[in-house]
Amino acid sequence: MKKLLVTGGAGFIGSNYVNHVLREREDYFIVNLDKLTYAGNLENLRESEKNERYRFVKGDVCNAELVDYLFQTYEFDYVVHFAAESHVDRSILGAQVFFQSNVIGTNVLLEAARRRGVERFLQVGTDEVYGSLGETGVFTEETPITPNSPYSTSKAAADMAALAYHRTYDLPVVVTRCSNNYGPLQFPEKLIPLMIINALNDKELPVYGDGMNVRDWIYVIDHNEAVDLVLEKGRVGEVYNVGASTEKPNIEIVKLILEKLGKPESLIKYVKDRPGHDRRYAIDSSKLQSELGWKPKHSFEEAMERTVKWYVENKTWWERIVSGDYRNYYEEQYGSR
Ligand code: NAD
Ligand code: TYD
Repeated sequence: MKKLLVTGGAGFIGSNYVNHVLREREDYFIVNLDKLTYAGNLENLRESEKNERYRFVKGDVCNAELVDYLFQTYEFDYVVHFAAESHVDRSILGAQVFFQSNVIGTNVLLEAARRRGVERFLQVGTDEVYGSLGETGVFTEETPITPNSPYSTSKAAADMAALAYHRTYDLPVVVTRCSNNYGPLQFPEKLIPLMIINALNDKELPVYGDGMNVRDWIYVIDHNEAVDLVLEKGRVGEVYNVGASTEKPNIEIVKLILEKLGKPESLIKYVKDRPGHDRRYAIDSSKLQSELGWKPKHSFEEAMERTVKWYVENKTWWERIVSGDYRNYYEEQYGSR
């Protein structure tokens, strides 16, 4: 049995990861350490919460005492570090918590892993650390790190810290850098769930600037399969880009969502642009593909169809987020334990 510490496992990608790994693999025991910020939702983990191979710990990755206690108690083989403040717009409104959780928090985990020893520490990174592209070109692992937002800057610092712990202390670190994810359980502040939910409620769809900023989209399960593969087979000290080569201008995504829901384009409202808005992301994942044999399994068309359907069918899930009721779930589920 491999003992795995997942941080941020109550968020979008982390909860999909925990559910997926517990479903697909019999040989993993998972401890999920999550602070339950606004983005952490234990309702995402209903299918896993009673699994014998799963424990939830409510706590902050910046809490060195707690983190060290968990390493000592469970003697983790692997760490998959998802926990982070993840929303660019929020980082523009207030950057401090981003540097606290994303940089200091990563350092606390690296320190504990160094002292207690692990087989692999996977730092979950983002392609946003490479900055912005013009009309052409792609991000490779050699592209210089030139982040533009407080969010991407804090993630760049976290990646650099993880790689420094490999070079300095020989900690077996691997880093993934993934493009924009979509799928079930994504907090409705990010483009795709926000637009689906607004359209379902016949509310305006706020498109930043001219709507021609380009993101490279990947279905969350494809990302998580890459994480699993890099964790087991990635070469230590290496960075692996993860992406499905699916570049789309934002306006195209928004129109597709309206079309799928049978809603009019008159709901689109162009609004003031995001400050420092990166124009285009495009990721080259050929290293991951040729070295480890990874390939995305889901086409954009099929996975978007599935995603829109999921939000239509799981209205209660997002209504509880919109109303704030999801925050009571921790008390209901764990309050008396
Ligand atoms: P999310 O915001 O949905 O979830 C983040 C989770 O981390 C939440 O459950 C939150 O409670 C937890 N968390 C935050 N601060 C914490 C702290 N100090 N201690 C413990 N837990 C804390 O984010 P997501 O979209 O699932 O992203 C997960 C990771 O993947 C992040 O590191 C993000 O940078 C990275 N990533 C995201 C994308 C994307 O498109 N969403 C793309 C590439 C990389
Ligand atoms: P987002 O989901 O916040 O991801 P990121 O900024 O990390 O790429 O945004 C994706 C794109 O959609 C980005 O170009 C900003 C744009 N966007 C809008 O136009 N309107 C919105 O309401 C949001 C949240 C994003």
